[in-house]
Order: sequence, then C-alpha cells, then structure tokens
Amino acid sequence: MNVLGIETSCDETSAAVVVDGVQILSNVVSSQIELHRPYGGVVPELASRNHLLLIDSVIQEALTKAGLTLDKIDAVAATYAPGLASSLLIGLNAAKGLAFALNKPFIGINHLEAHLYSPLIGEPDALPMVSLIVSGGHTILVHATGIGQHRILGQTIDDAAGEAFDKVAKLLKLGYPGGPEIDKLAKSGNARAIDFPRSMLTDQSYNFSFSGLKTSVLYYLRKPPNTATTPDICASFQEAAVDVLVGKTIRAAEEYRVKTISASGGVSINSRLREKLTGECQQRGLRLLLAPAHLCTDNAGMIAALAYHKSPSDFSLEVAPSIGLGVAA
Ligand code: KG4
Ligand code: ZN
Repeated sequence: MNVLGIETSCDETSAAVVVDGVQILSNVVSSQIELHRPYGGVVPELASRNHLLLIDSVIQEALTKAGLTLDKIDAVAATYAPGLASSLLIGLNAAKGLAFALNKPFIGINHLEAHLYSPLIGEPDALPMVSLIVSGGHTILVHATGIGQHRILGQTIDDAAGEAFDKVAKLLKLGYPGGPEIDKLAKSGNARAIDFPRSMLTDQSYNFSFSGLKTSVLYYLRKPPNTATTPDICASFQEAAVDVLVGKTIRAAEEYRVKTISASGGVSINSRLREKLTGECQQRGLRLLLAPAHLCTDNAGMIAALAYHKSPSDFSLEVAPSIGLGVAA
C-alpha cells in the first residue's frame, strides 16, 4: 500500500511516499528556518503563506523521487493536530482534495503520535516500550503497548525541552533554532562548570519542568561573578536538562518493566541525550531505539508510516491545533 503523507503543522512543508508503513521511497522536507530566523521564532502568518506556496511542488517532488505517479497512490494522509491552525489547514486540505479527486481514503494523523512511533518504523517487535517525545512544543513520557495503544505517564508542566533550548540559546545570543547551536558549543564546554537545577528529578511524578532551569541561566548571566564561558554555560544547561529527561525515562522503564526505550522529536537528536540514554540502557540491558535525525525533526515520512496502521478518516475532520497526544489504551 503506497501512502502519500503530508506534514505542515509548523514551519516545515513536507511530503513523503511510504510503502506498507516501512519502506520510505521519498521524504521531502522544505524547511522555512531561514525565513523565520530574523524573528527568532516561527511567525504563523509567514509559515502558512509559505506552506501554500510550496505544497504543490513538495508533493510533486515526493512523487518524482518515489518514481510514482498519483494513480499509484492508495491513500493520502496528513497531520490534523496539534500545531499552528493556519499551517495545519494547508496540508490537511491538500490531502483531502487529493484523496477526494483520486477517490482514495484520506487519513488524518496526530503529529505527536507520529513522533512517538517514528523510531518503530521497520521495528515492529519493539513494543511494549517507554518512549520520550521531546520536541520544540512538547515533552511527554509515554508507555506504549501497541500502535495506537499508549498511556501518557507525564509531561511538561511549563516549557517544552526544545523550547528551553531555544530560549536559553536566545539568552546567550546564539542562532535560531537554538537546540543544535547549544549541542555544538556544549561539546567544548565543561558540564560541571555551573550546577543548574534538575527540576522535579526526584519527585514521584513523571512530569517535567524546564522553566526554572531557563530562569536559572538568566539569573546566572545577570549576576556577577558570571565568569563561565558560553560553551561552559551551554554544557551545564544541557547536562541539567538531559539528566532529568534520562532519569525519568529510565525510572519509567523500570517501573513498567519494559525492555525497550525510545526517544523521538527534534531534541532527541541531541548528542548528549543520545550518549547518556545509550550508556544507561547498556548498563541495564535495555534496548534503545532512536530514529535517524531526519525522522526526528518534523517530516511527512513519519506521517505516512503511521497512516498505514490507521483507519480512514471522515472528510469532515477539522484541524485540532491544541489537542495533545491523547490516551489510546
Ligand atoms: O520535532 P521538532 O522538529 O518540531 C516540533 O514538533 O516542535 O523539534 C524542534 C525542536 C527545536 O526546539 C530545536 O531547537 C530542537 O528540536 N532541536 C534540538 C537539537 N536539534 C533540534 N535540541 C537539542 N539538541 C539538538 N541537537
Ligand atoms: Zn514535531
């Protein structure tokens, strides 16, 4: 079954063709990072206007790279939630229009669920697992027992992990998006230079909080003697964030007695997070599933892959900008 997937929930215009949920024939991502860089964040009006300009050519490129014409597409899927309303609308309506014209099923996909299952593409035996979804907008710890069967164990009560990386990078006057910049600079810094707080690490819940950590960086920068170098601040901040993310994920894996841990979303590319998760999993004989970087940031490949496992949606499905992952146990 050839699924054409479309993703426009934020600032990436993406289309992909995936066969039977596993074989990614094409996964075209047109990033708008350069467009939004001068503003230090995503400007919704610019994002949706650009999705509209790009959507047709991105879909065409995905088909060309897959070596298929539209008549070989068996279903059309698109992200319907969560994300920026005006951006979601472009991809969702493109998918509905194509599916209707082709007389094929249309499948609406929850973006967070697609992140959750992205490390499982081609790994059907990995479930049950404890999974950490860490992106610019979300930080969620999940116990997944099957595709479409998952329970949220905890999530952030304020900033998402990626949001904290981006905001701290802004404080340090680094580029946008900040996560990759901090990751790069931290490599030459001392992670023990500053003892930033590990918020909620030792409490009983699986919730997270990153707003206090971000504020601690702000106070450090304001108050002399603040002599640490930018790489030292990056490394110390990153270490604090990673300690909490890894600590809670490992504790959940032990409590729920799973043999597999996975991480997904843009922040899961972070090299220190990957290194620390790898070490902790090796020590405990746990299997760690991490998707390749191009499947961690927003992309339509994960949308088309998950759609293979889903039933068709009604054409009346609307965008749902602020729903979360939901509980589907
Ligand atoms: O999943 P994603 O592409 O979009 C959302 O759905 O939000 O994640 C984007 C986030 C941004 O906050 C970005 O700074 C962060 O992922 N990110 C990273 C790294 N690469 C991307 N954060 C830390 N380290 C990285 N290497
Ligand atoms: Zn995302």
